[in-house]
Amino acid sequence: MIKLSDRISRVEPSPTLAITAKAKAMKAEGIDIISFGAGEPDFDTPEPVREAAKASLDKGQTRYTAAAGIPELRAAIARDYARRGREVKANEVIVSSGGKHALYTATQVIFEAGDKVIVPGPYWVSYPAQILLADAEPVFIDCPADQDFKLTPEQLFEALKDPAVRGLILCSPSNPTGAVYTRSELEALGAVLASRPEVVTFYDAMYDELYYEGAIAPDLVACVPALKDSVVTFNGFSKTYAMTGWRLGYAIAPAGVAVAMDTLQSQSTSNSTSFVQYAALAAFALDPSVLTERREAFRRRKDLIVGLLRGIEGVKCTMPLGAFYAFADFSAYIDPTKSGANTFADDMQLTEFLLVEAKVAVVPGSSFGAPGFLRLSYATSDALIEEGVRRIKRALKG
Ligand SMILES: Cc1ncc(COP(=O)(O)O)c(C=O)c1O
Repeated sequence: MIKLSDRISRVEPSPTLAITAKAKAMKAEGIDIISFGAGEPDFDTPEPVREAAKASLDKGQTRYTAAAGIPELRAAIARDYARRGREVKANEVIVSSGGKHALYTATQVIFEAGDKVIVPGPYWVSYPAQILLADAEPVFIDCPADQDFKLTPEQLFEALKDPAVRGLILCSPSNPTGAVYTRSELEALGAVLASRPEVVTFYDAMYDELYYEGAIAPDLVACVPALKDSVVTFNGFSKTYAMTGWRLGYAIAPAGVAVAMDTLQSQSTSNSTSFVQYAALAAFALDPSVLTERREAFRRRKDLIVGLLRGIEGVKCTMPLGAFYAFADFSAYIDPTKSGANTFADDMQLTEFLLVEAKVAVVPGSSFGAPGFLRLSYATSDALIEEGVRRIKRALKG
């Protein structure tokens, strides 16, 4: 048997993808599953983007490109960031095969053994895994529902007392909670970070255009320009433009980090798919009404699902301000000391029960560092949201 590296034994496969795969397999067997598991919009990629990909193929744009992305796309991304009130140069943009890949590449070029990276929880599942794959150590800080799942300046101040801390990851709007840092909250965190300029902040803004309090969620560097040299920002095409399968994302990094990421990509993945990059140019030229209509649909579904979840006895759910997830507290149904018709040892068992008995797929909060919670993606139709939550309520007799 081939011995695997210690590195890979530190991490487990993404639980979100595992649940989605199990639900898909049950569906393929003909079982009527309603899935709230998916981390992707249910909309199609907008037609002009699909047409641009076809045109690019027909033009023969099928060869290797520069590892950091075609210059036109790097420039277009840089220009697009002006909408967030921020000036970005094309050489600060690194195009990757998805936001996840951009995060992975940045983690590899910045962190190493001995480094600690602060991960406020609930957190997106891949942050701890990627930190461990860089030989660094994630340091979790619990940010409970009564502080809207957000890191406070006091918590950050305490955590930064450890000199081994070299990084911080903020995700806004958040997967899994839908929480969004306001401008003043970012300014307050920025003031604390100013005392440790060598600490690198990863700002994951993958869902910043799926924001319900305005057109676009606040950007950390736009709010705190003094942090420009210590922040790497991540964004992409998957969520905003419903392009999850295309695998295209990017980082905006200080030029030195961008060069290092370019080097790693040139020695690992090379460029993101050529015609996908050309097609992405069309995403920036879309009629803004396409995105507005989709955002309004998500807003309506958010209000619907949160209202229905709050109608289940014992369930609490904060109102998400961005992304497309409801993060609901089901701890009333969890008790490791007793098991009964309506009581489960943990959220994994509850998730399994809902899949088998209610035929509804959700993701357990423990995957995100929040045991007792369930994440429900509302990137699905109103009718399925209504039926799915009704099934959960019936199965729990709530
Ligand atoms: C918070 C967050 N960051 C990054 C990503 C990566 O997205 P992608 O690799 O599809 O661009 C996701 C996708 O689920 C996410 O939820």
